[in-house]
Amino acid sequence: MVPRIAWLAARAPRDPHRAWEGYWKDIRTTGAGGQVLWDSASDAEREQYAEALRAHLDTSLPVIDVGCGNGSFTRWLAGIFPEALGIDVSPSAIARAEAEAAGLANVSFAVVDATEPGAEVSPYPGGCNVFVRGVLHVLPPRSRAQLAANVRTSVRGGRVFLTETNFPGSSLEYVERLGAAPGYIPAGLKRAIAGLPRPGHFGATERGAAFPADQWQLLADGPAVIHTVPAETAESTPIPGYFAVLQPRKGV
Ligand SMILES: C[S@@+](CC[C@H](N)C(=O)[O-])C[C@H]1O[C@@H](n2cnc3c(N)ncnc32)[C@H](O)[C@@H]1O
Repeated sequence: MVPRIAWLAARAPRDPHRAWEGYWKDIRTTGAGGQVLWDSASDAEREQYAEALRAHLDTSLPVIDVGCGNGSFTRWLAGIFPEALGIDVSPSAIARAEAEAAGLANVSFAVVDATEPGAEVSPYPGGCNVFVRGVLHVLPPRSRAQLAANVRTSVRGGRVFLTETNFPGSSLEYVERLGAAPGYIPAGLKRAIAGLPRPGHFGATERGAAFPADQWQLLADGPAVIHTVPAETAESTPIPGYFAVLQPRKGV
């Protein structure tokens, strides 16, 4: 199994933006049973976030879903906040998100590289919240820090909610958890291994490095469970994760 995974991973484009666009361009089905590994459309996963969002974020402000993909969570957030904007580096992801959200009045999308130095991720001068799911763990440390810096200048009084996979074992144990076995790799997992940047851990240590304590106040954090759909069936696989709620320190 290891040589097969190494062979697949060697095919992934080295340029991460090209990799994401190549991935999204070929996606035909999403949601439970769809082709997107992390898009399980799981109510159980959303419910675990709803309480923390309502407790810590100002729900009268808009929210930006950074790295929104096909916008599953953007649409869900639009039921909690007055307005939800999904941004993603991949034009094909945004096209798909727009199609899936057709008819929803308070949802919009834009192509933005959230890791570009100085990128303006928010069109809201009156402040906004930021939601991030499953983006930081696929970025290298420098890009994580740049994303955090861009978000920091954008929220203007709002707060950040992030949730990321934080699998404690090795890469091999991770793919086994996602259903890989000798002679078999689930289709959704295979597509991700062969096309996307390699995921890493994202827990309290990585959060502290990207969102340094002298600039960010940690309001809450703890374990989360991320639901994935590696085998393109309606059955989801839970992966251990980490969530945090942060706000920029004033006057820094
Ligand atoms: C694992 S997916 C998660 C998608 C979505 N947040 C969800 O949970 O369904 C990571 C997403 O981040 C996007 N992404 C990666 N790098 C980015 C960047 N520099 N700026 C904006 N989006 C980025 C990818 O295109 C992809 O849609």
